[in-house]
Amino acid sequence: MVIDDKGQTVQIRQASPADLPRVMMINRICLPENYTYSFFDSILQSYPKTFLVAEVNGDVVGYVMCRVEHGLSKLDRLSMKRLGHIISIAVLPDYRRMGVATMLLSKALEILRDEYKCSEVFLEVRVSNYPAISLYHKLGFEIVKISKGYYIDGEDAYVMARKL
Ligand SMILES: CC(C)(COP(=O)(O)OP(=O)(O)OC[C@H]1O[C@@H](n2cnc3c(N)ncnc32)[C@H](O)[C@@H]1OP(=O)(O)O)[C@@H](O)C(=O)NCCC(=O)NCCS
Repeated sequence: MVIDDKGQTVQIRQASPADLPRVMMINRICLPENYTYSFFDSILQSYPKTFLVAEVNGDVVGYVMCRVEHGLSKLDRLSMKRLGHIISIAVLPDYRRMGVATMLLSKALEILRDEYKCSEVFLEVRVSNYPAISLYHKLGFEIVKISKGYYIDGEDAYVMARKL
């Protein structure tokens, strides 16, 4: 898909182990929440279909990774559900506002629903992270809870969720 007036194209595909060093680099550039190689690798091994990367003209510029959990619905708190959990998503600064995160997340939601059979999806986001909160609202997520002091520096998180 063409994403800008220079004719750059974006392709969303499943990550492979060879992508992990670049994914870790993007994670470190974009987010304060960083993980070990073995954490990324374990998510890739366990939930490969929703570990996606975005390539622009052949370079990986963004990723999303998810896992599947069983638990109480975040939306009605009454029923047990198979829940998709968006663990991390990021796009390199030079490639933002071109729809890359929207493409990554839309594809991940589709696979969580159709292949991992999740009926709901949720995530945590810093209450100050306006760009990400806007992205999630645009994709149909609603704020269902505030987790006080969720982050290591003490910032609160919104828990956001939507049906699939
Ligand atoms: C949040 C992030 C992933 C968005 O990536 P992106 O590829 O720029 O997002 P998109 O281009 O798909 O944007 C989709 C919508 O999100 C919202 N949005 C994205 N960036 C925004 C910004 N800086 N300010 C306001 N709204 C924003 C807009 O509604 C946008 O739609 P629009 O461009 O038509 O107005 C990116 O900014 C990022 O990597 N941030 C750092 C990492 C991070 O915060 N990850 C989320 C952790 S929970």
